[in-house]
Amino acid sequence: MYIDALNPDGAAIRRAGDMLCRGDLVAFPTETVYGLGANALDPAAVGKIFAAKGRPSHNPLIVHVADAGHAARLVTEWPEAAQRLAERFWPGPLTLVLPRRTMIPDIVTGGGPTVAIRVPAHRVAQALLAEVGFPLAAPSANLSEQLSPTTAAHVLGSMKGRIGLILDSGPTIGGLESTVLLLSGAGQGTLLRPGLVSPAEIEAIIGPIARLRDNNEGANANASPGMMARHYAPRARLQVESDPIPIAQYLAGFGERVGVLAIGTELGAEPSALRGAGTEEPGEDRRGTVLVIHMPQDAAAYAAALYSTLHELDLVGVSRIVVERTPETDEWLAIRDRLGRASTGH
Ligand code: TXA
Ligand code: MG
Repeated sequence: MYIDALNPDGAAIRRAGDMLCRGDLVAFPTETVYGLGANALDPAAVGKIFAAKGRPSHNPLIVHVADAGHAARLVTEWPEAAQRLAERFWPGPLTLVLPRRTMIPDIVTGGGPTVAIRVPAHRVAQALLAEVGFPLAAPSANLSEQLSPTTAAHVLGSMKGRIGLILDSGPTIGGLESTVLLLSGAGQGTLLRPGLVSPAEIEAIIGPIARLRDNNEGANANASPGMMARHYAPRARLQVESDPIPIAQYLAGFGERVGVLAIGTELGAEPSALRGAGTEEPGEDRRGTVLVIHMPQDAAAYAAALYSTLHELDLVGVSRIVVERTPETDEWLAIRDRLGRASTGH
């Protein structure tokens, strides 16, 4: 169902709210990716999320609330650091993990002692939270381990027949998931998942935070089950390379259909160039194909385009994706993290 992103239609919100009150699932847009929502206080409703996604029960969900006041009511400790971060980044793409109250069902937290909470900035998500009055558990609205959806079409492609309603507000602005930060009772922060809010932005507010090493399977898996290595992956086999074109051409020589994500070439084409501006370079006498997609040089714009570009490459049926290595700076951290996960396990 279409719903305006800036001025959500009341009737559509009420219909979605009714479904959520009945314990059904509703997919809705946030500023990061589309979420698959259920009443976080209703274990049966939350159970439907795990069933629809095929998600392992030990991987806990993020609880979405209307504001910091609601967040503080779900936890046993609300350190000063949480308050300061909430004031700076909420509503927005920062998720705080804190000790939970028992009103949060076990199924939401994977039985663990903490709960992940965020206040989404998208007006449709805000309207939905205001309508129902209860917190919404919402993971990304995709099958477990697949790419997160940044459009309603992506949700439909992954979840068709598994959910009752999708609120469609067009492409999400952020394009990558929220940053997940664990906060101790004393307010010490540990970055569990890089995301749209960078570590430097967090440290500017609460001082130094601990960072788990990039793509470190063992350590991260224990701290945050969602950091399981293979995740956020397209169907095609993906690799990251400093000089992607010759490698893509070599693979095409074996008959592979190869997509290349190049960064800001002189063409300066739109991201997702597959829709038209893409350069298809069928190598002379080779059976394969190389499709070069020119991604933005700016990290935020690259993040916004990444999943939709990978979704499109899946749709056109490439067998391999070669991604040009992204810069090593902090603002590319979440992108490096997702590309690392997309390329693991093949
Ligand atoms: O941007 C986002 O965060 C999106 C939108 C829909 O809000 N949601 C999202 O949810 O990405 P999901 O379920 O795909 O990822 C949630 C992440 C996982 O890595 C999960 O392990 C972690 O948050 N997480 C949730 N609860 C946790 C907890 N209590 N302790 C540690 N990690 C937790
Ligand atoms: Mg997800």
